[in-house]
Amino acid sequence: DLANALIDTLPKAELHLHIEGTLEPELMLELAKRNKVSLPYDTVEDVRNAYQFDCLQDFLDIYYLGMSVLKTERDFHDLTWAYLERVQQDGLTHVEMFFDPQAHTDRGVAFETVVAGITSALEQAKREYGITSKLIMCFLRHLPEDQAFEALDCACKHKDHIFGVGLDSSERGHPPEKFERVFAAARSEDFVPVAHAGEEGDSSYVRGALDVLKVERVDHGNRAFDDPALIRRLAEQQTPLTMCPISNWRLKGIPDLAASPVKKALDAGLLVTVNSDDPSYFGGYLNDNYRAVHDNLSLTEGEIVTLARNSFAGSFLTGAEKQVQL
Ligand code: HPA
Ligand code: ZN
Repeated sequence: DLANALIDTLPKAELHLHIEGTLEPELMLELAKRNKVSLPYDTVEDVRNAYQFDCLQDFLDIYYLGMSVLKTERDFHDLTWAYLERVQQDGLTHVEMFFDPQAHTDRGVAFETVVAGITSALEQAKREYGITSKLIMCFLRHLPEDQAFEALDCACKHKDHIFGVGLDSSERGHPPEKFERVFAAARSEDFVPVAHAGEEGDSSYVRGALDVLKVERVDHGNRAFDDPALIRRLAEQQTPLTMCPISNWRLKGIPDLAASPVKKALDAGLLVTVNSDDPSYFGGYLNDNYRAVHDNLSLTEGEIVTLARNSFAGSFLTGAEKQVQL
């Protein structure tokens, strides 16, 4: 039907995508063999069977284990290329991609290796598919502030390739205030700030991301709906939210897809976008997430178009670049 045709063919940007969360079980096992890394899985089926989560932390434990197979520049290139090849068929024309360098440098993989592998695939996608991109380095919020500063020092040597900074990993107990100084330093180095907030943490985490970290976009933001004044503010300021419906469902942040806040966000006039987060782990790429909200929230065709337009409006493309895409 028309809605599905729109979902498949509309140009779309993805604004909430962790490249390490695109590692498919087939590639995980191939890289484990190539790099002689031992995993607690023998088959693709074993890997997929492990993907049952009751909360964010359940997922993160498996996510950090899975990425232990990534060692060389070629591994990061292959990982990134596999994602780009997959989503170019979905009408994706722009991606703002997160990566988690501390999860690699802690295992002895050089920061430069990670950035070089991801960047070469992004450049190839620009040449071969015309896909544009921005790379956002996330700080792991469960780790101490001084380690985030070390990551920021590394990023400063790669300003030509790293556009922004973000904040991810275990949310509750690690509020935005913990990273106030790191974000201030990152902003003064001209990195554009975003942060995960209100995925599991309460609405004060969303306020903290805005007021303390001074983010230009909020990743998830679900719990903002507990605070009507905050929703009015997000609507007035048109702060983009990057929501991830299938992720929320698979991590039990919502009981079913019909409980996704995407429709409420549209109705409240928020600049809401739909994204995949960690598509391999949650079993859905970008268009699967659009279909999930269309089917479960009874979105109109007009609302599907709005979501696709919002994906560019909420991106960090410049005004002129957005005009071309919209
Ligand atoms: N939330 C927090 N940290 C993450 C996520 C997420 O959805 N994906 C990868 N790291
Ligand atoms: Zn995320």
